[in-house]
Amino acid sequence: MSEPRIPNSGRIIDHWLGGVHHFPVDAAAASEFAGLYPGFPQVYRTQRAFVGRAVRAVADEGVDQFLVLGAGVPTQGNVHEVVPGARVLYTDIDPDNIALGREIVAATPGVDYAYCDASNLGTLEREAAERILDPAAWLGVVAVGFSTSLEDGALQATLSDIFDWAPPGSFLVADFDGQALLSLPAILAKILDQAGRPLHLRDPGRIRPLLGRWRLSEDGICAVDAWRTSAPPPDKVFAYGCLSHKPDDSS
Ligand SMILES: C[S@@+](CC[C@H](N)C(=O)[O-])C[C@H]1O[C@@H](n2cnc3c(N)ncnc32)[C@H](O)[C@@H]1O
Repeated sequence: MSEPRIPNSGRIIDHWLGGVHHFPVDAAAASEFAGLYPGFPQVYRTQRAFVGRAVRAVADEGVDQFLVLGAGVPTQGNVHEVVPGARVLYTDIDPDNIALGREIVAATPGVDYAYCDASNLGTLEREAAERILDPAAWLGVVAVGFSTSLEDGALQATLSDIFDWAPPGSFLVADFDGQALLSLPAILAKILDQAGRPLHLRDPGRIRPLLGRWRLSEDGICAVDAWRTSAPPPDKVFAYGCLSHKPDDSS
């Protein structure tokens, strides 16, 4: 893709994760954010490590196809790298991410990148979905890093639509931004300025009802740092993560 003039969150995260798929404008924005809060790169390393553990756990249940919503840049420990050989369809609404993502996965069989607005699964590019995903087989849906922009009603409806759409036996890996961002007012003000819309920050009590019919794993909803690790729960939670399941006997 040609060099962009404005930074985007997926490529900023790629910079923080030590990737190579970003531009000077993204590196400058990443440095500016990290200058305001030096812990930001670690926040996203922790989030990506959660994706890796959760996706691996889903693969261990026998799932070999994944739909990734709000995928950003498909590198640095993203889904097809964690489960080599799996069929993976990355999706996003950002045309730059789609163009860059297609370049990155072009040479990887069974992996592609397509448009989908996660709040309206009807927008999923049908041709790519039919080529990559088997509608009858168990599916891992990964929804990480974009729920902050959706208010509760919209997010609940989105997760319910994904439940109806996914074949029985499927899994959902999701995360939700926590209240720790509120302890960083300078950062938050900056993000809000750039996004131009409110962020929805949640704790487990607020997240649980949003999962609706998804059956939460015994791990519960916990800080992504602590999900299936021996790490103690952090003082400040930037993101909560969970794994849930659509039972094989549900429709
Ligand atoms: C903070 S980035 C996270 C990217 C990636 N999941 C990660 O963890 O690195 C949020 C991503 O969600 C995408 N996004 C925001 N709203 C979306 C929506 N309604 N549907 C699909 N993607 C969305 C953005 O374009 C962006 O790529």
